[in-house]
Amino acid sequence: MVTNRELEERVDTSDEWIVQRTGIRERHIVAEGETTSVMGIAAGRAALADAGLGPDDIDLVICATSTPDYTFPSTATQIQDGLGIRGGAAFDIQAVCTGFIYALATADKFIRSGSHRRVLVVGAETFSKILDWTDRGTCVLFGDGAGAVVVEAQEGTGALSDRGILTTQLRSDGRYRDRLYVDGGPGSTGTTGHLRMEGRDVFKFAVGKVIDVVREAFAETGAEIGDLDWFVPHQANRRIIEASADKLGIPREKVVITVDRHGNTSAASIPLALDAARKDGRIKDGHLVMLEAIGGGFTWGSALVRW
Ligand code: UT7
Repeated sequence: MVTNRELEERVDTSDEWIVQRTGIRERHIVAEGETTSVMGIAAGRAALADAGLGPDDIDLVICATSTPDYTFPSTATQIQDGLGIRGGAAFDIQAVCTGFIYALATADKFIRSGSHRRVLVVGAETFSKILDWTDRGTCVLFGDGAGAVVVEAQEGTGALSDRGILTTQLRSDGRYRDRLYVDGGPGSTGTTGHLRMEGRDVFKFAVGKVIDVVREAFAETGAEIGDLDWFVPHQANRRIIEASADKLGIPREKVVITVDRHGNTSAASIPLALDAARKDGRIKDGHLVMLEAIGGGFTWGSALVRW
């Protein structure tokens, strides 16, 4: 765990600035030798145990990550192997901070097609490896982590009372590449590169687009703000989260915030927040939960879920 105070020793920043501008107090950084798949395996194992399932019960593993262990094979195949899953398929999804929403949407569509019955969806990241630790504008914002959920086929009636993923809304606009990107890669520099961000631009874009895509999820399902039990947004910045919730008219007490403890963990932030809210008893079976995220690309999206 790395506190804001510890970062004060690395770059010209302060605990006060970080807390005021972002709400972040601490973040977790992997130990030497730990990788995205190591955390993904731990999260996957915990999710399987929680669901009372074993490795043979899973026929698809999807891992959302922008920080894979290797260029290839996919991190999902490493997680599949680490969990002893020998059947089915595994692949990665790359949509940066929106990765978990994209992965959840993919799992939902595989299940609805009838081709797969139980999907392990993992969000896992080691952004500490792509940060420029001399850039105070980015290095204080991110952290490492992983979370996972199991998505299972179940008959529904098409009503809002159905359990599971009720709708997913995915968007992207590649014109914004230079606002949030990594300045390297196998096809360009041949190096891993470092994260670069125009924070102010991302902030403005985030609030507007997140609101649109949440409203579209409500419109598609016929649900209303008042039906919502929990709002679980991507955890990048407390101010973005609160501004979005306020504009949507979602009361602050229904908003799950974990950015203070984890920083921005990209594709891992939503499953980490779900885990926290479930373990402390906030999210219960039958609750209606809105997830949303925005990330590099830009990509953005939402998912309305009946727990
Ligand atoms: O995960 C999805 C994508 N990411 C996001 O959603 C992040 C979106 N952006 C943000 O969260 C915010 O824009 C930041 C937290 C990155 C920055 O907050 P801001 O209120 O937009 O600050 P700013 O960039 O306008 O910078 C204000 C000042 C600047 O100084 P001057 O030019 O006013 O003198 C910066 O140089 O704060 C300075 N600054 C810092 N000071 C202390 C920037 N970083 C730091 C720092 N410590 N770490």
